[in-house]
Amino acid sequence: MTRQILVTSALPYANGHIHIGHLVEYIQTDIWVRFQKLRGHQCLYVCADDTHGTAIMIRARKEGRSEEAVIADMRGAHVRDFGGFQIEFDNYGSTNSPENQALCNEIWASIRKAGLVKEKDVAQLFDPVAGTFLADRFVRGNCPKCGAEDQPGDNCSVCGAAYTPADLKNPKSTLSGAVPEIRTAEHLFIELEQLHDFLNEWTQDGSHLQPEIANYLKGHFLGEPLRDWDVSRPAPYFGFEIPDKKGHYWYVWFDAPIGYMASTHEWCKRNNQNLDDWWSSKSSAEIHHFIGKDITYFHTLFWPGMLKTAGCNLPTKVHIHGFLTVSGEKMSKSKGTFVMGRTYLNHLPSAALRYYYASKLGTGLDDIDLNLDEFVSRFNSDLVGKVVNLASRSAGFLAGQTLSDSYPDDGGLFAAAAEKGELIAEHFENCNYNAATREIMALADKANKFVDDRQPWVIRKDPTKAGELRDVCSITLNLFRQIVTYLAPILPSLAKQTEELLNRPITSWSDAQTPLTGTLVSPFTHLMKRIETKQVEAMIEESKEQMASEQGAAEPVAPAAETPAVSFHPADSWKDAGDALANEPLTTECTIDDFVKIDLRVARIIEASHVPSANKLLQLTLSLGGGETRNVFAGIKAAYKPEDLVGRLVICVANLKPRQMKFGLSQGMVCASGSGGPEVFLLSPDTGSVPGQRVH
Ligand code: 2FM
Ligand code: ZN
Repeated sequence: MTRQILVTSALPYANGHIHIGHLVEYIQTDIWVRFQKLRGHQCLYVCADDTHGTAIMIRARKEGRSEEAVIADMRGAHVRDFGGFQIEFDNYGSTNSPENQALCNEIWASIRKAGLVKEKDVAQLFDPVAGTFLADRFVRGNCPKCGAEDQPGDNCSVCGAAYTPADLKNPKSTLSGAVPEIRTAEHLFIELEQLHDFLNEWTQDGSHLQPEIANYLKGHFLGEPLRDWDVSRPAPYFGFEIPDKKGHYWYVWFDAPIGYMASTHEWCKRNNQNLDDWWSSKSSAEIHHFIGKDITYFHTLFWPGMLKTAGCNLPTKVHIHGFLTVSGEKMSKSKGTFVMGRTYLNHLPSAALRYYYASKLGTGLDDIDLNLDEFVSRFNSDLVGKVVNLASRSAGFLAGQTLSDSYPDDGGLFAAAAEKGELIAEHFENCNYNAATREIMALADKANKFVDDRQPWVIRKDPTKAGELRDVCSITLNLFRQIVTYLAPILPSLAKQTEELLNRPITSWSDAQTPLTGTLVSPFTHLMKRIETKQVEAMIEESKEQMASEQGAAEPVAPAAETPAVSFHPADSWKDAGDALANEPLTTECTIDDFVKIDLRVARIIEASHVPSANKLLQLTLSLGGGETRNVFAGIKAAYKPEDLVGRLVICVANLKPRQMKFGLSQGMVCASGSGGPEVFLLSPDTGSVPGQRVH
């Protein structure tokens, strides 16, 4: 039976880059999604940037830009980094989207209607210089219990005492250095206790949560009345204003998970589908959330409570994983083990991390350790030494020829490995990738033994044994392809290379059930290169330097309340040089009538690819929404990689007369500035705009 499965990973905050700790989850989820797709299920993977909250507001002030500009840049960087690790979302949205705001309004109305909202006064620390209330981590002072200095507002890192920010001695705001005042403001709360019975049942029924999580919730939360959840923040706050409480905003954790729905909605709109088919309580779609253990209670108490109240589909399963340690310790900036995704990619292939994490991930909540020596040796010995080695030792002998016309006798090897298919699938289904990789490597060992025994490199020396050589290589290549099919969720690019080598796509798990016969073998090219310890060392070194320079560059934050955000920037930094204007002076005046003839529209790049034989062009498919698309050839190849563009909003000239080029029909133009070559800068509309909107 085909399942309809919606999968999410936690939405990354828009105030920081993706690091290798985050990637445990995205890789874990991406593998699961690819596996489900390979099994023939309808599976949708959605995610988005989590954009709201004090941290973004503060960062925007610090950088002298709007919050929208900050989150747009970070979204671009996140999409690029995820692409680099072959994390393939079906939709990547933003919580600061009109779709999300509309859904927040709807869900909020249901929660109000159910009588779950109440108002209470809350005393909170307020920074009179920065003009903002302070979240716990923006205040530091002496621990009220042991007196340790420079402790945050919630608990002491020296004696472990837990307290409220107001208890801190000599508190100081980390934003401005000012002594915070205590100010009282009204907050809105959701009375979770009213949902206690439902949450008891939902968390404890054995199907939605790992047993250790169900027990943790029972022991820590459900054994007593559930505390009211504070879901509003007074201005100033970067978020959505609460429609029936002006001047107050939903706390970021209210609108963040609704972002899962909003991202699904964006996908539905693009694909003419109905959001209710996924999220209404009548839907038969499965919903699977992948998260880290630190955000357990948001996803297992608040979120199901909100969904239940709003009459929505509930999560089928929340898959919770542990944290990443590096060589047995917490990731450390000073040791260079706090590695950003981008830094990793500067030195190492994404396949190595994908495989390593897969080989470590099991069903439990234990932290996973990235041991750097083991990381190098596992990639080299398993993938290069065992898997790719099968192709290296056989494909060259058959290049340009075809595989044997009928599958030769291999002593039952292929059939035995085919029989393992269901067991391996079960391991993937249960997120027990560690067990899956072990099974697959055992198959690779057997296949290698076959090659060692039959020695194709010896057979080829005897011209009378051409038939035998073809058979031995056909068997080896089939065993290789079978293994690659099982590994395809983990190593999509190896699967792609194998498709090209053997001229047959790998589209289904069942591709591992039947051997290929008679297909052409392409010339062999190296599929994977060994990685070296020195690459890892260079990555660690770059991380150290990066962190050191970031810390050196940290600026004090200027006051916010009295002055508009933009004035924090030193005016000098805007003394823009006049070169661009001088190089391309303004053209003759035009009238508004001239201007309106040009129909500029917001468009989303939904596909981007190289154009074979064109040096400067990329081929883009632009969506104007509602199924309307444009094929455009843009001269931006030197400035952009196709994988970095997909999902991006651009401005296009939508009524440009189509032009037949030698590569195909070009139906418009994307707007960009710059002098050409690598100096090309695509124009992006601000967050909130949607494909199809006209630019006036
Ligand atoms: O912990 C985090 O990184 C949050 N940004 C996760 C949000 S997940 C979802 F609920 F939106
Ligand atoms: Zn203390």
